[in-house]
Amino acid sequence: MAAPTSPDAIRDVNTRYHDGAAADYDAKWGIDWGQIGREQVLGKIRKALGGAIPTFGRSLEVGAGTGYFSLHLLMAGVVGEATCTDIAPGMVDVLRGNADRLGLQVDARVADAEALPFEDGSFDLVVGHAVLHHLPDLQQAFSEFFRVLRPGGVVVFAGEPSRYGDRLAGVPKRAATAVAPVWRAAVRASAAPEGLSDGGVENHELEQHVDVHAFVPGDLEVVARDAGFGDIHVRGEELLANWFGWTNRALEATAVPDEVPMAWKQYAFHGYLALQKVDRGLLEGRLPAAVFYNLLVSARRPA
Ligand SMILES: C[S@@+](CC[C@H](N)C(=O)[O-])C[C@H]1O[C@@H](n2cnc3c(N)ncnc32)[C@H](O)[C@@H]1O
Repeated sequence: MAAPTSPDAIRDVNTRYHDGAAADYDAKWGIDWGQIGREQVLGKIRKALGGAIPTFGRSLEVGAGTGYFSLHLLMAGVVGEATCTDIAPGMVDVLRGNADRLGLQVDARVADAEALPFEDGSFDLVVGHAVLHHLPDLQQAFSEFFRVLRPGGVVVFAGEPSRYGDRLAGVPKRAATAVAPVWRAAVRASAAPEGLSDGGVENHELEQHVDVHAFVPGDLEVVARDAGFGDIHVRGEELLANWFGWTNRALEATAVPDEVPMAWKQYAFHGYLALQKVDRGLLEGRLPAAVFYNLLVSARRPA
């Protein structure tokens, strides 16, 4: 399949891929609905804002997927009322199921981040995780975030791949793919059929076309400023944790998931959390944002 070039084709590929991936999304990415997941989400929001997290009355999440950010923000009492949107109807269905299981009320709707179906000034917070890099027209999206925020409202995005971090992450991914047969023999797992964790082979093919940006911090500053935002901060997080995480994820993706031993999963999970602490304590704040894997941006609509 040729890479999509028009904005409509990019949105179409994103819709189809994420629809196909929705049912297994939480398992694939190890999304945790307990205390550990909540701490992860709150840690990212705190880092993006550069300090304590205030409370927000009404929030809007774009590209909400299965609800990872909004449902945790509701459970933590950071937001009072959550509206969640995503371009993929399959994701919105899974999100509604997750909210029901957790006993949470959300307004969940299918919507494109670049054309939000809400009145001007409707929200106190616009939030998102790992979504900006899928949007064909980032400037239009930020204009929409600005429009639907009340004056003084805050926008926060986390989990956006940095251009250099993305290149650096290619090294452990390639190394892991090369040694995967040896690793599978060591943990006694068989090779997974292609596309197993992506909703099938056809969907797996789409995956290579859903990411349309990797950013340098200045890219995010410029779109936020041109949309009218002030008080803009772009920060970076996770270097060692991402190398470790991508290595293990690339290895695991080659094996039948049920055959990966629990001991390995525990090692991968706790190793990732430990390296996050090393990144936080030693590297973040000392190295430039651009070298980290993830970028976080926060900004405010002037009052
Ligand atoms: C990598 S997933 C992240 C999901 C969720 N935020 C999370 O962190 O688990 C990206 C999400 O963005 C959604 N998406 C892609 N393009 C979009 C668009 N133009 N408008 C709204 N959502 C979009 C996808 O359907 C998908 O659910």
